[in-house]
Amino acid sequence: MSVKMKKEAKVLSQGLLAEGIYDLWLETEIAKDACPGQFVGVYPTNKATLLPRPISICEVDRERSAIRLVYRVVGSGTAEFTLYQPGDYMTILGVLGNGFPLVAAAGKKVVVMGGGIGVPPLLETAKRLSEADTPVKPVLVSAVMGYRNSDTFLSEEFSLYSQIHIATEDGSVGTKGNVIDAMREQNVEADVIFACGPMPMLRAIKEYAQAKGIKAYLSLEERMACGVGACLGCICKTTREDHHSHVNNARICTDGPVFDAEDLDM
Ligand code: FES
Repeated sequence: MSVKMKKEAKVLSQGLLAEGIYDLWLETEIAKDACPGQFVGVYPTNKATLLPRPISICEVDRERSAIRLVYRVVGSGTAEFTLYQPGDYMTILGVLGNGFPLVAAAGKKVVVMGGGIGVPPLLETAKRLSEADTPVKPVLVSAVMGYRNSDTFLSEEFSLYSQIHIATEDGSVGTKGNVIDAMREQNVEADVIFACGPMPMLRAIKEYAQAKGIKAYLSLEERMACGVGACLGCICKTTREDHHSHVNNARICTDGPVFDAEDLDM
């Protein structure tokens, strides 16, 4: 499909957002197709690292035909991305992945939950939910975001689209603890949860949602390596058998990254 071809994208701006976390806007035709929870593959130019790096889409600006990527530097590939300046071109592949099923929040109280570098993809999610028209509009959009410390990147932007609740590991802002602690302490009500973050956080959300009868959709994007089905580094166990391969496995990058929590064997 044409939307998944390699493309050149022009850097519009890049800056440091928090320690080790960069904020990059790219001009690309992908913007017209991009949905919250999807990602792109970004190619390093270094020949030793030919596979793209999967990076989630933080925000979409259709008018400027631009996407925003907020990424953490984790190795030589992402370190190279920090060097790009406005006017430079990067090679990207996309749009990739399935994205969050926003329609599941129609008429419901929806909570977007993010932890660490799982926070960025929830920004466009909160924005689209808050801007949705009847009949798919949720009755309430809340955001519960977990951070290590007072460096609560993007939290002010979440407050434009949702009621924001914060948890920090060191207790410097909001609830001391994790996102579930913040849900309880700040009495956040939910019918549906869209979440992205590290596996321990997603496991805790699945358990919490199950106990409370809340529908949860989890993005496992932190578990991806290449993002394009080439490395098999992203297999996860599922509760249902794949009817092609007859195994209880899914590839996060090609079958996800978003899954119904009930379908995941975590
Ligand atoms: Fe490489 Fe899925 S991340 S195959």
